[in-house]
Amino acid sequence: MNGNFKYWNPTKLYFGENSLNYLADELKNYGPVVMLSYGGGSIKRNGIYDAVIDILKKAGKTIIEDAGVMPNPTVEKLYEGARMARENNVDLILAVGGGSTIDYAKGVSTSAWCEEDPWQKYYLRGEEATCKVIPVGSILTMVGTGSEMNGGSVITNHAEGLKVGKVFGPYAFPKFTILNPTFTYTVPQYQMVAGFYDIMCHILEQYLSDDDDNTTDYIAEGLMQSLIRSSRVAVKNPRDYEARSNIMWTATWALNTLLKMGKSTDWEVHMIGQAVGAHTNATHGMTLAAVSMAYYHHILDAGLPKFVRFAQNVWGIHGEGKSDRQIAEEGLQALEAWMREIGVVLHLKELGVTDEMIPAIADSTFLLTGGYKTLTREEVIEILKESM
Ligand code: NZQ
Ligand code: ZN
Repeated sequence: MNGNFKYWNPTKLYFGENSLNYLADELKNYGPVVMLSYGGGSIKRNGIYDAVIDILKKAGKTIIEDAGVMPNPTVEKLYEGARMARENNVDLILAVGGGSTIDYAKGVSTSAWCEEDPWQKYYLRGEEATCKVIPVGSILTMVGTGSEMNGGSVITNHAEGLKVGKVFGPYAFPKFTILNPTFTYTVPQYQMVAGFYDIMCHILEQYLSDDDDNTTDYIAEGLMQSLIRSSRVAVKNPRDYEARSNIMWTATWALNTLLKMGKSTDWEVHMIGQAVGAHTNATHGMTLAAVSMAYYHHILDAGLPKFVRFAQNVWGIHGEGKSDRQIAEEGLQALEAWMREIGVVLHLKELGVTDEMIPAIADSTFLLTGGYKTLTREEVIEILKESM
C-alpha cells in the first residue's frame, strides 16, 4: 500500500430507529441558540420537523428557523444564511435534510464570522477557514452524498456557471450525525435511486486509481457488493428496513474519507457531473449516472487491470477463455445493467442538456490528474456527446 496519510474522523454517529433519542444529550454540549436549517418542506410533511422542534423546545433552546435550502444550494442562499447566523449569534447549526442542507450548513458555519467573501475564499481559492467556525450537527433524511460524516460542501453559482465542492478539514465536519433509516422512507423514488448511484460513483471514484495492492480497495469492493444487493431490494420495496439501513451505512462509509486512504483518487465523473449540474440544476446523482458509462469506456484501456478486478470481484464475471478487455467490458455491462435495473438516467438529454450547451459545460469542467487518464477539454466534449 502506497501513500502517507493521517486518518481522523471527528463525527460522532448515532445509528438506528431510536437514534433521534440521542439529540437531547448532544444539545447539552452547545449554547442556547440553535439555527435549524432545512430544505423545501419534506421534513414538515413526514413529521421529522415536529419531532425535532419538540426536542429543541424541551432543551430550552432559542430556535432560529432557516428554511428553504434548495437542492444544489446556491451562493446567494449561503450569503443569506451566514448573515442570519452571525446576526443571531448562533451556537449550533442543526441541519435536517439531505446533502444539500448539510453541505450548506458547513458553508454557513465557516462563513458567518469570515470577513472575506466565502465564495472567493473557500470555493474558488480553496482556502481553509481562518475565523470562528460554528459547530454543525446533522440529521440525515436522504442518503447518498456522505456529507453527514465529511467536510464536503458543494455550492452552485449559477451566474458564473460553476458548481464547486470545497472539502473542509475535520474542523468543519458535523460534530454529530443522527442516522435513522426510517427517515429516508419518504424520499421520492427518483431521488432515492439518484442517491444509490451517487454512492456507487463515490466508491468508484476512489477505487479507480493506482495499481498497488491496497487494503482500501478490498473495503471498496465489499461496500459495492452490499450496495448492489440492498439497492435491488430497496427499489422494489423502499420500506425494507434491512436494505435501507445497509444503504445508509454504506453511503456514509463510501465518502467519509476512509476509502481515499493511500489512494490518489479520480473524481473526474464528479467534475463533469457538477459542470452539468451548474448548467442544468439537475439532480446530482443523475448527472453522474448520465456521463459515467461514456467516461468508463473512455478510460478502460488506461486502467485495464483495475477494470478486470472490478468485473471479477464485484460482479462475479468469470475469466476463463476471455481476454482482459472482454472481462473488463463485461464488468461495465454488468454495471450498466444494474443502473437500468434501479432506474437511473443514462442520457444527458433527459436532464435538459442540448448540443449547444456542450462547449460551456466542458469549460466548467475541472480536469483532475489522480485517475488512470487525465482528460483534455476535447475528450470531455467527446464524453459529453457520447452521453447525450
Ligand atoms: O428540500 P426538501 O423538501 O427536504 O426535499 C429534498 C430535495 O428535494 C428531498 N428529500 C430529502 N429527504 C427527504 C426528501 N423528500 C422526502 N422525504 C425525505 N426524507 O430530496 C431532494 C434532494 O435533496 P438533496 O439534499 O438535494 O439531495 P442529496 O442528498 O443528493 O444532496 C445533493 C447535494 O450534495 C452535493 C451535491 O452536489 C448536491 O449539491 N454533494 C455533496 C457531497 C459531499 N458533501 O461530500 C459529495 C457529493 O458528491 C455531492 O456532490
Ligand atoms: Zn457525489
